[in-house]
Amino acid sequence: MLRVAVLGAGRIGRIHAANAALCRDSKLVAVADPFGDNAAKLAAEWGCEASLDPSALLTRSDIDAVVIGTPTDTHVALTLEAVRNGKAVLCEKPIDLDLRKVDEAVAEIERLKGRVMVAFNRRFDPAAQAMRKGMDEGEIGDLRQVIISSRDPDFAPRAYLEHSGGIFRDMTIHDFDMARWLLGEEPVLVSATASRLIDPTLAEFGDFDTVMVNLQTASGRQCHINCCRTAAYGYDQRMEVFGSKGMLLNENLRATTLRRWSGGFTEAREPLLNFFLERYADAYRIEFEQFCGAVRNNGEMPVTVRDGRQALRLADAALEAALSGKTVRV
Ligand SMILES: NC(=O)c1ccc[n+]([C@@H]2O[C@H](COP(=O)([O-])OP(=O)(O)OC[C@H]3O[C@@H](n4cnc5c(N)ncnc54)[C@H](O)[C@@H]3O)[C@@H](O)[C@H]2O)c1
Repeated sequence: MLRVAVLGAGRIGRIHAANAALCRDSKLVAVADPFGDNAAKLAAEWGCEASLDPSALLTRSDIDAVVIGTPTDTHVALTLEAVRNGKAVLCEKPIDLDLRKVDEAVAEIERLKGRVMVAFNRRFDPAAQAMRKGMDEGEIGDLRQVIISSRDPDFAPRAYLEHSGGIFRDMTIHDFDMARWLLGEEPVLVSATASRLIDPTLAEFGDFDTVMVNLQTASGRQCHINCCRTAAYGYDQRMEVFGSKGMLLNENLRATTLRRWSGGFTEAREPLLNFFLERYADAYRIEFEQFCGAVRNNGEMPVTVRDGRQALRLADAALEAALSGKTVRV
């Protein structure tokens, strides 16, 4: 059994705690959160220990691995502390908002031979896995284009947005990771546009609500990403890969496959799954299981800190491209 502690008992920490408690190869030992009764409440749900002191858990010999679901500006310090104490780490995205800090952390983690996985959960979505498998088996032939649409149903809380690092580093970073994973090559050219069509006050902290990005790899493969902070019809997550022999299309998920016909409409379907906690529930579970398996078997981490670094590099390049109006070479 992998003995696990979860740091941070907020939105994502709750998901990781449930997965660590329910996975048959792991045991949730403790959750830590320094604020209020967040840790106590979550620990009570799963019958584990609660702590107000994350660092205290990192030195314990009865904990093998930690999941870091704390605010982004705490990830590097907690990850390095955990690695120095010999713990395996599943760290939420992004590793940090500052590329230089991320580069230093990656170098230190690699020097210490730390076992760290970055939590890009969308790679573990069963539909995304099926898409990757189809591509690997040659279904679409030579890949030409990847199209990703990624729209949230509504804004995250203002307090979160103000410290999120902006739409490219906080939200589109998932899509940059998917783009790299699907393209199978590093993008070398980045162009982007960014608008405030919904909330002009985002300018107060330099953020945007509606963005489009184009990526191109050295061999010429292309990827288009479009992101928006709100969508009237719900959480919109679609992907398309197009190649010399065909196309694979990953559409939105609904609670059921039911379709309805009446005098006023035809083929009406169930609403889209509400938001990331529902849409990617399986992905978070499989992500944790893969982490657990890699740690137990001493195998390669399914998503590395280098992957985390590269996604942030693309986010920075997209922001630079949007602000300058010029294509950025990475
Ligand atoms: N992979 C995904 O789909 C996904 C989704 C949401 C958030 N995230 C990432 O997860 C992180 C947390 O986001 P969230 O939405 O859960 O935030 P949140 O504000 O809901 O939760 C963060 C929790 O961490 C606690 N905390 C603060 N400092 C701490 C510390 N030093 N040690 C332990 N706990 C601490 C807070 O009290 C809070 O309960 C962010 O980095 C975010 O980018 C990832």
